[in-house]
Amino acid sequence: MRETITFDDVLLVPKYSEVLSRKEIDLSVDLGKGILLGCPFVSSPMDTVTESVMAKSMHQAGGLGVIHRYNTIEEQMHHVLSAMGDVEENSGMNIAAAVGVSGDFAERALELSNIGVKIICVDVAHGHHILMKDALSNLRKILGDDIHIMAGNVATLSGFNDLSDWGANSVRVGIGGGSICSTRIQTGHGVPTLQSVIDCSATDRDALIIADGGMRSTGDVAKAIAGGADLVMCGSIFAGTDQSPGEVFSSSDGKKYKVYRGMASIEAQRDWKGSHNSVEGVSTTIPYKGSVFDIISLMKKQLTSACSYSGAFNLRDFRNNSEFIIQSNSSQVESSTHILK
Ligand code: XMP
Repeated sequence: MRETITFDDVLLVPKYSEVLSRKEIDLSVDLGKGILLGCPFVSSPMDTVTESVMAKSMHQAGGLGVIHRYNTIEEQMHHVLSAMGDVEENSGMNIAAAVGVSGDFAERALELSNIGVKIICVDVAHGHHILMKDALSNLRKILGDDIHIMAGNVATLSGFNDLSDWGANSVRVGIGGGSICSTRIQTGHGVPTLQSVIDCSATDRDALIIADGGMRSTGDVAKAIAGGADLVMCGSIFAGTDQSPGEVFSSSDGKKYKVYRGMASIEAQRDWKGSHNSVEGVSTTIPYKGSVFDIISLMKKQLTSACSYSGAFNLRDFRNNSEFIIQSNSSQVESSTHILK
């Protein structure tokens, strides 16, 4: 049986650097088909993370928002159109929207692409599945080759290669690692997210790797990119902000919170389909964080610092230059702020 690693198990070794200023570092990512992002950050298709305001803000900050699918086609189209409504030059807007693999998914994808969505995200918990194969082959026929299809999630290289061969241009990698996931507890299945990313980076296919689930800081994001990810998808990092759906509320001690919940939690399933079956997520509250623009601005600065520590001027060099080491339990203690312990 092989051993696997995830974010806290490793560190990146600092390298000789000729980076003189963070301004010299390019965080852009080319998704192909004329889609260029200014930074590799993608917000999750969840009903407490990405609706119109988050999608528009992610676009304005240089990233990408994926509008969730837990609604009617009309409601999802409304979220997309509201995000586009007041963004100048709609045709240039980077926006993604999610569909499933059954029911109305084909009609939904067609309607979304007809109103200008450039990226359709085929979003299911276990993406290495015959229903995904059929859905991707259907969507390619219906949507043609000009649309970018994102698909997932998978945990293995064979899953990544299959989704790529079935027509995906980018693949979400990570099963059971998300902060609100209980898949590993309920089913015993999953692979640590960073390990999945490293495994998938051995691919010889062209599809982009999206690390998804479990990143709590820009340090984790940097490790995911160093491990082979082209993009990182985050839920909890972008939840609890002014731009995420839902109300801010105060607890008895005056602290402010917002709800953040897994889409397979009892609460989310009840809200979008009236009942629940297999529960693989939880609903919780997280501290209110203010503007997502401030969070993204800080993440960009921290990621450019990470590139500088590896002597890299762009994310491709960062991936190529990076060297991981395993850290012991006592190194993990040293790596966290420990002055008060
Ligand atoms: P983070 O750690 O960024 O994770 O909060 C967000 C990712 O978690 C996935 N997701 C789920 N996984 N049960 C799961 O097992 C769920 O209910 C659930 N909801 C979301 C998804 O990949 C998301 O991007």
